Amino acid sequence: MLGEKPTGRKCLGMDGLVKEGSETMQESYRDEVMDAAIIGAAQKVEHYEIAGYGTVRTFAELMGEDEHVSLLEQTLEEEKNADQTLTSLSEEINSQAEEGEGESEGRETSKERKSTSRRAA
Ligand SMILES: [Fe+2]
Repeated sequence: MLGEKPTGRKCLGMDGLVKEGSETMQESYRDEVMDAAIIGAAQKVEHYEIAGYGTVRTFAELMGEDEHVSLLEQTLEEEKNADQTLTSLSEEINSQAEEGEGESEGRETSKERKSTSRRAA
């Protein structure tokens, strides 16, 4: 639409977030803790996307590209909705993860305890 070739560089930030999420999935957390950890990792991705789309939306505004502003705002809203959905899920799942804390005492690492005591943003 802008007459430009749609190329770019590999996004190192997103690549890191995806790797971090993959590492999380290699952990031996019990199910509820794993779900809470995956939600946290997914929210990092959503927040990164929100920052990216918000930035290019603002650039499009500055350039007077109204049609692009509209499309980018649509995508930005989708990312915000995905983040909100994850927050809603975390409210129940983080509690489940916390409730099971005593049941598997001695088996979890302090790393797991930390991840369950925080509620996703
Ligand atoms: Fe997303």
